[in-house]
Amino acid sequence: MSSSLPCILVPGKINERVLQRLPDTFEIVRLERADPDLVTADMVDVRGIAVSGRVPAGLMDALPGLEIIANFGVGYDGVDVKHAASKGIVVTNTPDVLTEEVADTAVGLLINTLRQLPQAEQWLRQGRWARDGAFALSPLSLRGRTVGLYGLGRIGLAIAKRLEAFGVSVAYHTRSPRDGLTYAYYPTLEGLAAAVDTLVVIVPGTEATRKTVNAGVLSALGSNGVLINVGRGSTVDEAALVAALQNGVIAGAGLDVFDNEPHVPDALLALPNVSLLPHVASASVVTRNAMADLVVDNLKAWFSTGKALTPVPETPFTQRAG
Ligand code: DGY
Repeated sequence: MSSSLPCILVPGKINERVLQRLPDTFEIVRLERADPDLVTADMVDVRGIAVSGRVPAGLMDALPGLEIIANFGVGYDGVDVKHAASKGIVVTNTPDVLTEEVADTAVGLLINTLRQLPQAEQWLRQGRWARDGAFALSPLSLRGRTVGLYGLGRIGLAIAKRLEAFGVSVAYHTRSPRDGLTYAYYPTLEGLAAAVDTLVVIVPGTEATRKTVNAGVLSALGSNGVLINVGRGSTVDEAALVAALQNGVIAGAGLDVFDNEPHVPDALLALPNVSLLPHVASASVVTRNAMADLVVDNLKAWFSTGKALTPVPETPFTQRAG
């Protein structure tokens, strides 16, 4: 690894467009997975990582010249950002470019969950409409609902705007109220759950949010309650959710994210009152291309100007600190 181009390591799989664009400006090294034990002596020149997935502390420690980790995704829970910050390594993510797509998917998943549209389509495809008659009326509807947003960042706000257009009431819970909004604010998640019948989770997967949607929150949501999660699976206590769905503590759930992806608990798969998606909220060609471009553009900006385009708040560095 001795070219004059900065060397970028790509551990594991990443969007094809990242791999197509990187070689214009960088030397690329691939690693089967983000495992420090796979790092070889000639990777001493690695100055950046482009990643869709994990970057553990050990991998950072194994790369002495590492300056930047460009994460494919707005959520960067796979990257040990605390460790990166302690070493002066800048971490970037892909905000904004996926906001509207994820908000669209969230509303689609909400309606699928309430109106059982995936099941209705299966009914038609299986020839049951002609054979057995009309698909059963959906017990749930968006009409008359009050939706609580757990998280009101860029994506939460985009979901709220869409819900306003659907004519439903919106409330929210975040650590502190946001200025200039008329949505009702609840200082606790359980308080929000008790005040609404539909809870949409769109917070980052951090230690502070881990399993915060627990049995108490689900019970507060109530027997007409519906939970939608388009944030991170770690935020929901999955065992408590399964029990709540099985026992009628809540009425239904729509999930795009899970605690141990790509593995989905059998107990969830067996439930009729859930709508399940394989983490596709941002997964259109146009949006994933925009995310790929932002990964590459962050690396290019860093190495040409010393300033990343979208550093995460924990690593606001403009040059290598240590
Ligand atoms: C993100 O950007 O964090 C999404 O979950 C990826 O689709």
